[in-house]
Amino acid sequence: MKLSLALGLLSIIGGADAFSTSRSFSPRIKSQLHMATAGSLGCRPIGIGSAAPKTIITNSDLEDVVETSDEWISTRTGISQRRVLQHEETIKGLATDAGKQALEMSGVDPEDIDLVICATSSSDDLFGDATSIAAALGCKNAMGFDLTAACSGFLFSTVTAGQFLNNPSNMKNALVVGADALSRWVDWDDRNSCILFGDGAGAMVLTRDKGSHGVLGYSAHSNGGGYDELNLGYCGSPRMVATPGDGTTLSEGSYKKIAMNGREVYKFATREVPRVLNEALEAADLTVDDVDWLLLHQANIRIMETVASRLGMPMEKVITNLADYGNTSAASIPIALDEAVRSGKVKKGDVIACAGFGAGLSWGSAILRWG
Ligand code: ACO
Repeated sequence: MKLSLALGLLSIIGGADAFSTSRSFSPRIKSQLHMATAGSLGCRPIGIGSAAPKTIITNSDLEDVVETSDEWISTRTGISQRRVLQHEETIKGLATDAGKQALEMSGVDPEDIDLVICATSSSDDLFGDATSIAAALGCKNAMGFDLTAACSGFLFSTVTAGQFLNNPSNMKNALVVGADALSRWVDWDDRNSCILFGDGAGAMVLTRDKGSHGVLGYSAHSNGGGYDELNLGYCGSPRMVATPGDGTTLSEGSYKKIAMNGREVYKFATREVPRVLNEALEAADLTVDDVDWLLLHQANIRIMETVASRLGMPMEKVITNLADYGNTSAASIPIALDEAVRSGKVKKGDVIACAGFGAGLSWGSAILRWG
């Protein structure tokens, strides 16, 4: 099963009262803007893991590919290198490695995982990867599905998993994976975008818990009015099948490359991310002063600096590993969180304000109290 954008699912399981009314957006983007905001989801993270491909492409390597320089890329984005899957490698393999680590840290038996959600926009299989990841991990009692919400995917999947765990269902444990390989879908002749993306996977185990730790509040939005700013659209070629009469012209499937208006996405992110973080903090009944760590989707260091400054937070509180991985889309938040937890930076009880943003357009925030 594959779900496009989490909010449809949230509307089914979260109830209509989870949604507020629409409000206006920038003059460029006029469609309705939907929002889901709520307080504690009654679940907490107990394990985290991540994996990235071995192959590294540095900024200097890219100087041989497009007209660019290490200096331009590092000063404009904060990225030094990215990890990429080679031809025979799979996103499912990375996701499984990340999931294994998260399960080990959690101490949960794979057979006790009830739900596996794989947030991805670049699955190995268009029908979805979650079920094979679950099978590879031995999560034989889990229901699995993919969720597509671009770089907001991990955030939306965490909120979606929380809705299942919080509901009076028999689900107790969920594995949420964020995994992407946008190197497969980048135009390697387009210097505006090919320098940004890398591949990777991260995973988190959530368990039902009504205590004071875990997902304390969230807010999520999407607006298709901004679709043109960032997309990866279908482009089939005509395929005639000889049905009676004149035949039928069907479409043989393939996709274009990532198309992005970097400046507009940049403006959208720096405008909306501080707002969505404040909404989630308010839903969690916290303020910026309560936040120990700010963890944003790793897209551009200048976006992180601007958002931190708009919130009045010092850069020392910003978790970032963008320099080493580039933008790994749905994987970026769990990879950075995994490194921060394993290095001892994030400690039990710390409050982490997370925010994802990207194609759709989509954006969301979740406030976590770790451990
Ligand atoms: N090397 C050298 N020069 C370059 C490169 C490059 N790789 N790319 C662009 N340039 C040039 C441009 O052609 C332009 O030249 P010109 O002034 O002669 O026209 C100049 O540099 C400035 O270009 P801008 O686009 O204005 O550069 P900007 O400072 O905006 O940085 C960037 C571009 C890095 C893409 C930035 O806009 C950005 O980070 N945007 C946000 C992207 C993002 O966050 N995406 C997240 C979502 S991803 C998802 O959801 C899948």
